[in-house]
Amino acid sequence: MAEVKQTVVEGVDALTLNGKSDADTVETATDAQAQETAGDEATTNADDVVDPWNVASSNDAGVDYDKLIKRFGSSKIDDELIARFEKITGKPAHHFLRRGLFFSHRDLHTILTLREQGKPFYLYTGRGPSSGSLHIGHLVPFIMTKWLQETFDVPLIIQLTDDEKTLWKDLKIEEAIKLARENAKDIVAMGFDVNKTFIFNNLEFMGKCPAMYQNIIRIQKCVTFNQVKGIFGFGDSDIIGKIGFPAAQAAPALSSTFPFIFGNKKVHCLIPCAIDQDPYFRMTRDVAPRLGFPKCALLHSSFFPALQGAKTKMSASEQNSAVFLTDTPKQVKNKINKYAFSGGRVTVEEHRKLGGIPDIDVAYQLLKFFLEDDAKLEEVRVAYSKGEMLTGEIKKLAIETVTPIVEQHQAARKLITDEVLDKYFELRPLKYGS
Ligand code: TRP
Repeated sequence: MAEVKQTVVEGVDALTLNGKSDADTVETATDAQAQETAGDEATTNADDVVDPWNVASSNDAGVDYDKLIKRFGSSKIDDELIARFEKITGKPAHHFLRRGLFFSHRDLHTILTLREQGKPFYLYTGRGPSSGSLHIGHLVPFIMTKWLQETFDVPLIIQLTDDEKTLWKDLKIEEAIKLARENAKDIVAMGFDVNKTFIFNNLEFMGKCPAMYQNIIRIQKCVTFNQVKGIFGFGDSDIIGKIGFPAAQAAPALSSTFPFIFGNKKVHCLIPCAIDQDPYFRMTRDVAPRLGFPKCALLHSSFFPALQGAKTKMSASEQNSAVFLTDTPKQVKNKINKYAFSGGRVTVEEHRKLGGIPDIDVAYQLLKFFLEDDAKLEEVRVAYSKGEMLTGEIKKLAIETVTPIVEQHQAARKLITDEVLDKYFELRPLKYGS
């Protein structure tokens, strides 16, 4: 097993990405009693589970990301990297970067060097369409991706893995294709430039583009069953579709998968994604040089917490864990008020005396993602920590911040007709760079 780990995953301990679910043992504390002791001290986080299918921590503050960087063998996004980013782009870094919400990377320096030298690269990200409606956490990688596309003026490829969701969920092919289209409307509603963006769903694209299937086979030829077992935790009784699937998520990281965009040029690729997707791209990075391609670079986000707290991520399959992009203002308000885990104290007296704990407070986390004003956010953090600001007040601010985002999204989505959507799915060259 030891050699397998080394050859496939760049020396990272593949088996720590255990595929087991700890979901049963993770409690989601929502009531005031449970919060009493919350945040007293960090647990060891030895049992954080992070893989493409499960995210669970025993700590109220969520996954220990520094430990995850070590475990995965990625690099921390530090002040020096952010400074270089700002110098090269001539623009302040996005607040997701400044606030450490995107906290880890692979080879981002290489991408910045390419930019300095005026050499091309493209962006690739994706979404597994498992539900008709996205939630606000799903916006995060796409907000970052959009900002990167605007900052660098580069082509963007968005993969919808309807095949993945058919294989993993109780979902028919036809339903998965429908969900992919619905999700694509939400993505397009975020305002991606149609001239620079190509969107595709695997179940339909594969038949239109032999180059993609050919790359999948090239990739599958490089990876053994032992290796995918090590990386993803697959077992002998997993269906063979799952075992082969990682190659389909890897293929878009090779530019030759899209001959109508890149011709036969070997172009570098940068992938913004949540860190749970990293196992796919460790595999991709191992394979790419063997096929004569550069290794993809990565920019990893932390998880968007469930309303019930950062022990798990916001999930579309848990209705009350998520604020959906289809929720009404009233639903947004009720959900945050009722479910958002509070880092506040049990009584007002105690809260005034001891102060709240922003790190475990979901309303504060929502603000960290969506309140763009740095000064205001810092004011809130200080006032809440000192007990000057109460739980009801921080929740109110979170509601006021999130509601317009949801409303604006709904208005933008209404304008996405089938014709508008089809343009993004058309196989065509993209126009970028001036
Ligand atoms: N597997 C991802 C999911 O379930 C979807 C995906 C496909 C993706 N390609 C990607 C995510 C590239 C990030 C980057 O959501």
